[in-house]
Amino acid sequence: MCGQGRSRLNPPASAFRAGLAAACLVLFAGALSAAGEAPQIVPRLTGEAAPMSEVKAPPLARPIVDDVKRMRNYPEQPPVIPHSIEGYQLTLNTNRCLSCHKREFTEGSGAPMISITHFMDRDGQVLSDVTPRRYFCTQCHVPQTDASPLVPNLFQDASKLGGQR
Ligand code: HEC
Ligand code: HEC
Repeated sequence: MCGQGRSRLNPPASAFRAGLAAACLVLFAGALSAAGEAPQIVPRLTGEAAPMSEVKAPPLARPIVDDVKRMRNYPEQPPVIPHSIEGYQLTLNTNRCLSCHKREFTEGSGAPMISITHFMDRDGQVLSDVTPRRYFCTQCHVPQTDASPLVPNLFQDASKLGGQR
């Protein structure tokens, strides 16, 4: 609102606009000083370091590669990847994931086949190969690391909620 206005204004309108601009300035200054005193509700993701100060990067968390299947937190959750995907190419021409998870290759690799939903196009039509909308696996499936959570996680399993009714 503050920045708007036509260049040719009649006098009363321009006086009004000037007043408005002044009011905007006061409001802006007020907002700045208020921001300084804003209560800290959420812990800063950057930690306790002062803003703009140089902080040593923490070591990268170690990926979890134990090959142990993880329980899904809800039925539709894409299962997390329990193995390393370091260096696996996933591009328009190459899909390293499918070299093990594709139907034709699961017997040799021992990997679980991509499920039937991965063959369905958006109309529910089942294709003979992976549907384009499920081609980029890491859109949905992610590996895990041993990093500790930055904020406490209050997630509750749906099966635990049932008992409260
Ligand atoms: C060398 C073969 C191989 C490749 C390549 C591979 N996987 Fe796997 N994947 C497996 C095997 C075998 C398992 C079964 C668990 C285990 O042994 O780690 C598995 C398990 C999984 C699971 C867990 C399934 C479940 O039901 O819990 C997911 C998700 C997965 N892989 C996704 C991927 C994605 C995404 C990629 C590509 C970035 C990929 N995989 C590449 C062999 C492979
Ligand atoms: C749009 C999100 C999405 C994409 C992209 C996707 N998946 Fe999945 N995947 C899921 C969901 C959700 C499930 C669990 C429900 C289901 O089977 O649809 C799943 C299940 C799986 C499973 C377990 C199958 C089973 O029967 O236990 C494997 C293995 C898997 N996906 C591998 C892959 C691979 C490999 C790719 C890439 C070619 C891929 N997924 C791409 C969402 C996705």
